[in-house]
Amino acid sequence: MKLFIDSARLDEIEQSYAFGIADGVTTNPSLLKKAVQKLQNEGKRITLDSYLKKILKTAKGTPVSLEVTETSYEGMVRQAKQLYKMFNPVAQNVYIKIPVNPSFEKRDGNDFEGIRTIKELSKAKIPVNCTLIFTPEQALLAAKAGAAIVSPFAGRIDDYIRSQNEIIFDKDDYFPMEGWYTEHTILDDNGIVSGIELVEQIIQIYTNYDIKTEVLAASMRNVRQVREAALIGADIATIPFGVIRELASHPKTREGMKKFTNDIVPEYVALMQQMKKA
Ligand code: E4P
Repeated sequence: MKLFIDSARLDEIEQSYAFGIADGVTTNPSLLKKAVQKLQNEGKRITLDSYLKKILKTAKGTPVSLEVTETSYEGMVRQAKQLYKMFNPVAQNVYIKIPVNPSFEKRDGNDFEGIRTIKELSKAKIPVNCTLIFTPEQALLAAKAGAAIVSPFAGRIDDYIRSQNEIIFDKDDYFPMEGWYTEHTILDDNGIVSGIELVEQIIQIYTNYDIKTEVLAASMRNVRQVREAALIGADIATIPFGVIRELASHPKTREGMKKFTNDIVPEYVALMQQMKKA
């Protein structure tokens, strides 16, 4: 499974690539807002144009998703083409993020603006990461329209199921992939019992029809969810920096390190020094 860093902070992106584990970057307007505000709070002036170019160069050879801000078909197509033209030449790694459905209200007539946009961009050979996927049906439509990647928001589905059922939780709390059982029933969102199950159902549908669109598990909240995304065969997981830092960590690993370090005999130290000189 490929690991993307879910951040617009250059320092976090640089560190993730320096760790040697990053296979791509996802940004969204909220992540960009956080990154810009942090720099401004530190008294740094920022030109977004050159800032984004630095991100693209850091991620050279791996995909970076940049999201449109328009919500109409015409607006999204125009903005996507402009973003691609301006930024793809930097490192040939731009993917355009298009919301599967940009409507703010139910039945406002805009439900298929995202799908139409994906179809148009796919015709123009602009790779699309279709975002804000919350149902397998949305993922099927996005794939049919030609999306290169779909991003089901696993964590937000878990948040939604808990909120709908008045369960108090912290953002990084684990939510069981097999669902939340109460005394009488299992909680769900129209048949989806967890964010990871949403990702799993999409993978199943794509497998049934040999669909090549990649499934990116987004909105990851903790390391266990990353493991589960890998277990069910997600192509990609995009992970916030805080969770990336925890991926390599376990108390018994630290304990083992201390014990092994304490047990190094002087003869072994001498051998190491001898090798260093050679
Ligand atoms: C990535 O593509 C998504 O925008 C991101 O994972 C959303 O994460 P969040 O639900 O934690 O905001």
